[in-house]
Amino acid sequence: MKILIVYYSRHNHTKIVGDLIGKLLKGVVEEIIDIKDRSHLINWEKSVFDEELRTPTKIKPMKSNPKDFDLVIVGSPIWHGITPALRAYLKQNKGKFRKIALFTTFSASAENADYVVEKLSGKKPISVLGVQDRQIWMGEHKRLIREFCERVKKLLNIY
Ligand SMILES: Cc1cc2nc3c(=O)[nH]c(=O)nc-3n(C[C@H](O)[C@H](O)[C@H](O)COP(=O)(O)O)c2cc1C
Repeated sequence: MKILIVYYSRHNHTKIVGDLIGKLLKGVVEEIIDIKDRSHLINWEKSVFDEELRTPTKIKPMKSNPKDFDLVIVGSPIWHGITPALRAYLKQNKGKFRKIALFTTFSASAENADYVVEKLSGKKPISVLGVQDRQIWMGEHKRLIREFCERVKKLLNIY
C-alpha cells in the first residue's frame, strides 16, 4: 500500500504534522513550495487576499506522481480557506488521485477545508484531521495524529 503525504507549510506547523503522519504511515513525504515569496509579515494580508480571491499561484514541480499512490494525504494551513499552494497542487493533479485524505492546521477554525479539497481534487477525503496551533504547542497533536493514522490504516485495511 503506497501512501504519499503532500503539504504546504509556511511556519512549520503543517510540516510537523505532515512529517509525523509520514513516519507513522511509512509514506513518502513531499513539501509543496510556493514560488511566490510569503515569508514576511507584510505578505500576510496579501496571502489572505490571494486565497480569498482565488488568485492562482505557481508551485515548484513535484517529484512524486499521485497516480503512483493508493492514497494521497494533503495538508495545508488554513488561510481563510486552504492555501494558494495546495489549491494549485490539487488543480494540477485533478483526476490523478485514487483516494485522498486531508489534514489542516489553524489558529481558530478549520473552516470548510474538506469541502474545498473535495471540489478541487474530485475526491471526497476518506479521513480528515484538524490540528489547532495551541495543540501543537502543548504536545497534544501527537495523540490526534496517531488516531488519524489508525483511522486511515483501518480504512485501507493495513494491519
Ligand atoms: C496568511 C495567513 C492567514 C491565516 N488565516 C487563518 C484563518 O483564517 N483561520 C485560522 O484559524 N488560522 C489562520 N491562520 C493561522 C494558520 O492557519 C496557522 O498558524 C497554521 O498552523 C500555520 O501553518 P504553518 O506553520 O504550517 O504555516 C493564518 C495564517 C496566515 C499566515
